[in-house]
Amino acid sequence: MRRWWVNALGYDPRGGGSAFALALVVLVTIVAPFADAMPSSSRVPPRANGSRIALGRAIFFDPGLSEPPGTSCASCHAPERAFSGNHGSSIGVAQGSRPNHFATRSTPSLLYLRYVPRFHFHQDDDAIQPSAVGGFFWDGRADSISELVRQPLLNPDEMNNRDSAQIAQKVAGGGYAADFRREFGEVANDPEAAVTALGDALEAFLTSDDMAPFSSKYDAYVRGDAKLTALEAKGLKLFKDPDKGNCVSCHRIYDTSKNPERSLFTDFGYDAVAAPRNRYIPANADPERFDLGLCGRRNARTPTEDDAWCVNFRTPSLRNVAVRQSFMHNGVFKRLRDVVAFYATRATNPMRWYESGVRFEDVPVRYRGQVNVNAIPYNRRAGDDPALTDADVDAIVAFLGTLTDAAYRDQANTGARPVIRK
Ligand code: HEC
Ligand code: HEC
Repeated sequence: MRRWWVNALGYDPRGGGSAFALALVVLVTIVAPFADAMPSSSRVPPRANGSRIALGRAIFFDPGLSEPPGTSCASCHAPERAFSGNHGSSIGVAQGSRPNHFATRSTPSLLYLRYVPRFHFHQDDDAIQPSAVGGFFWDGRADSISELVRQPLLNPDEMNNRDSAQIAQKVAGGGYAADFRREFGEVANDPEAAVTALGDALEAFLTSDDMAPFSSKYDAYVRGDAKLTALEAKGLKLFKDPDKGNCVSCHRIYDTSKNPERSLFTDFGYDAVAAPRNRYIPANADPERFDLGLCGRRNARTPTEDDAWCVNFRTPSLRNVAVRQSFMHNGVFKRLRDVVAFYATRATNPMRWYESGVRFEDVPVRYRGQVNVNAIPYNRRAGDDPALTDADVDAIVAFLGTLTDAAYRDQANTGARPVIRK
């Protein structure tokens, strides 16, 4: 949610919230001028030891951790797709451990997670109200990886475990059980402690150096070690141009810094982009079912239940975006080019995208006014020329292809046709 909204503050003053808000504003006012100078990596956790990382990796790939067994974290977060993927499903969202059970959102890549800040509100000098930043998941509802792993493990549509005891039992039977005891002691007798330890190990792996490789062509380019092709360079220019793509206003980069950590391709903020409805998600057979994003998040310390936060989703990093099998929080798009063309023509030719014939069809009527219609490139009227031509879209797609890390380059899916595997 961004500055042009004149809505009431997105958090309410329950529990000393106004004092908190004031403190926040003061703090942010002091810190803001230095924000540009601060490394974007300010939350990078201290490095875990190698044995904990190796243990976390073994757990991540353990297919015995689901019910029935067969689905590991890596089934959905597939390493060959930069740790994203659909687990064999073709409907844009991943299948869980049981047939015909599907997640309701698309699987994010798990690379570069160590840069995701904790959920917080940020007050810009010229903004009427604070904006929301950070947190894990599309709606920012989790503040740490170690805590959130219970969610996929217990979700009936994902790994489907009954309770912590069942998970602990599986850990005790895993090939890494001895390493687990060596790392964490005898926690296996206490299921909650065992699952917490499991989360710590997974966090160590997911925030390790290997999970932030910075080995893309773009990274080589900012370091001065590679040249972009003419088409890629044109794409980068359009990506940054505030009158054309304007993508950097949310997918933030500093291509003049030699440090690739300054180009994470997200500001971790939230926006209401109004992706079309994914009709293939089984739960969407119910026309009254909507994914409300940020206002569905529950948190007493930083509440976002206010309607003003509805239908906002966290801006994803675009690193390795070209190897994804589906795009947007609901996985509605299968081709990267369609996403970029959607940005270009959502305003000028909406019925190209909203098959039901209703603009912003996946947003409940009462929240349609909250969809961002002010940012370039989608601040136009139906029938206007789009901000980006077809050739511009192609150039941006070519540029996005430079964000693929070395290990995944053969998977890139920037062409007109999707790469279908298995
Ligand atoms: C059935 C597919 C599936 C499995 C299995 C799965 N995930 Fe996920 N993962 C998802 C989806 C879908 C999301 C996005 C959920 C949301 O935003 O509400 C997600 C989100 C995440 C995130 C947040 C990423 C971000 O950018 O905020 C992390 C971390 C994560 N998963 C780790 C794991 C771990 C660790 C495991 C194994 C214990 C696991 N996942 C198993 C599908 C899966
Ligand atoms: C005003 C903020 C904003 C601007 C400007 C913006 N984006 Fe996004 N972008 C988002 C948000 C928020 C999402 C997630 C939306 C959702 O899932 O509902 C997103 C999603 C995406 C995705 C899908 C990624 C994935 O993992 O599924 C791509 C690709 C993308 N944007 C590219 C672009 C390009 C290219 C531009 C410029 C033409 C652009 N964006 C401009 C905020 C923005």
